[in-house]
Amino acid sequence: MRTIVSRLIRFKSSFAQTRFVSASYSGGGRYLSTDSNKIDEPFNVEEAETVHVPPPPTEKLLVLGGNGFVGSHVCKEALDRGLYVSSLSRSGKSSLQESWASRVTWHQGNLLSSDSLKDALDGVTSVISCVGGFGSNSYMYKINGTANINAIRAASEKAGVKRFVYISAADFGLANYLLSGYYEGKRAAETELLTRFAYGGIVLRPGFIYGTRSVGSMKIPLGVFGSPMEMVLQQAKPLNQLPLVGPLFTPPVNVESVAKVAVRAATDPVFPPGIVDVHGIQRYSQQKSR
Ligand SMILES: NC(=O)c1ccc[n+]([C@@H]2O[C@H](COP(=O)([O-])OP(=O)(O)OC[C@H]3O[C@@H](n4cnc5c(N)ncnc54)[C@H](OP(=O)(O)O)[C@@H]3O)[C@@H](O)[C@H]2O)c1
Repeated sequence: MRTIVSRLIRFKSSFAQTRFVSASYSGGGRYLSTDSNKIDEPFNVEEAETVHVPPPPTEKLLVLGGNGFVGSHVCKEALDRGLYVSSLSRSGKSSLQESWASRVTWHQGNLLSSDSLKDALDGVTSVISCVGGFGSNSYMYKINGTANINAIRAASEKAGVKRFVYISAADFGLANYLLSGYYEGKRAAETELLTRFAYGGIVLRPGFIYGTRSVGSMKIPLGVFGSPMEMVLQQAKPLNQLPLVGPLFTPPVNVESVAKVAVRAATDPVFPPGIVDVHGIQRYSQQKSR
């Protein structure tokens, strides 16, 4: 910082001198200033001190699945907070056409194959995984479970990675039986995370996430249903306690709230490790950012 300010000061001082010289020349036609001792005059420090130079980012965040719906909001939130952001997914940058995407370092890799994370983890201080998906039960177990378990293990073996946030999912009662691969995969990844990152592992368990999903240059607003449902179901908290069907009343949550809490959990050293449910996500997202 001191170096940058002193460079700015020197630049300002020599710039002022150049202007002085050229003014003398154009005014008199023949005279160049002989006031060379002006260089050594004390400069005006107060003016230089008003220049705002933001500190270089020291936190390096790796977003797994940064080109997906939740992942892209996480990348944007982290960039807004001044972090250095990189992402890894099977398709890399994919079809994202938004300006913030050019500020992310994109890696291509499949978390199901060993060593895919090796280079992407260099210099990384925290990881947020937004990798997950639907399909057959065995596919869902692999993407939600195995892929994330591989990432958690690789990150825990890198000395620099202090915090790891996993976007999991709330229980959905009866739906858990129909989507057993999805939930079993989620819970297996959670167990691995809380074991490997006992002090810096955070699991977020949202229900339905709404917001704007970008598909190429198209924007699909998922908030049309999500936002009113969130308001209604927030008031219906006791219904959540009903056996089997209760979890269906879990309120939806805005994708920006999920992204905000994920980035805070990944970077705030006093954010407590453990599981954060949808009500916790809503509560933390309303707190003022540090
Ligand atoms: N959306 C919701 O309402 C909701 C609700 C609760 C929980 N969640 C959870 O939140 C997370 C994010 O959801 P989302 O809606 O953002 O999903 P999404 O848009 O489908 O994003 C999934 C991301 O994972 C990447 N990915 C998938 N398989 C991968 C692999 N083997 N290796 C590397 N990257 C891989 C995908 O990119 P590539 O295809 O390019 O690899 C994509 O970037 C998921 O874990 C999901 O279960 C979502």
